Amino acid sequence: MIKEIIKNRRAVYPVQYSDQKITPNEIEEILASANWAPTHRRTEPWRFKVFHGESQERLANFMAETYKATTDNFSERSFEKMKVNPVKAGCVIAICMQRDPKESIPEWEEIASTAMAVQNMWLTASELKIGAYWSSPGVKDRLGELVHLAPGERCLGFFYMGKYDEELPQGTRKTSIEDKTVWI
Ligand SMILES: Cc1cc2nc3c(=O)[nH]c(=O)nc-3n(C[C@H](O)[C@H](O)[C@H](O)COP(=O)(O)O)c2cc1C
Repeated sequence: MIKEIIKNRRAVYPVQYSDQKITPNEIEEILASANWAPTHRRTEPWRFKVFHGESQERLANFMAETYKATTDNFSERSFEKMKVNPVKAGCVIAICMQRDPKESIPEWEEIASTAMAVQNMWLTASELKIGAYWSSPGVKDRLGELVHLAPGERCLGFFYMGKYDEELPQGTRKTSIEDKTVWI
């Protein structure tokens, strides 16, 4: 049931990932779901850069070194996490948004559409028992120094994925949907 898949989807972090590999087929299946996100004026703005295998190490080094060189609030813990997590993951996908060159719709709609594509990926991963989460470190704004980004293309974060053995915790929300809803 879609309702159960939605409710049971969790943010699953690298510390929870096992050593079990994710296959290219699984990655392709997850990406295929992204492409069915809704899109205003059919701009289909979602773009992805897949780091799977050896390139995960390059991503980790890039993130850690870029963080060190650019932050004015250095923490050894964050540096270590950036060095370790992209390699511990089964796969990391940079989430990018391609601005429509004609700017036919506001940028927020392109970001919203890309976020919906990510939710499709997250739900598909969840159904495949692949843990995932969206990470949004400051270094995402520098991804263009590691991989080619087209004019108007912007990185919105990283989709970490990994298989896991442990039971996932129950999700929590601070308040109910009734508290966030007004019926007019
Ligand atoms: C746009 C976006 C950015 C996020 N960035 C981070 C992040 O940088 N670090 C992090 O630990 N979690 C991040 N998350 C994951 C959330 O922390 C997680 O979804 C939230 O705690 C709710 O837990 P749940 O997804 O298991 O319901 C992000 C989620 C979204 C949607």
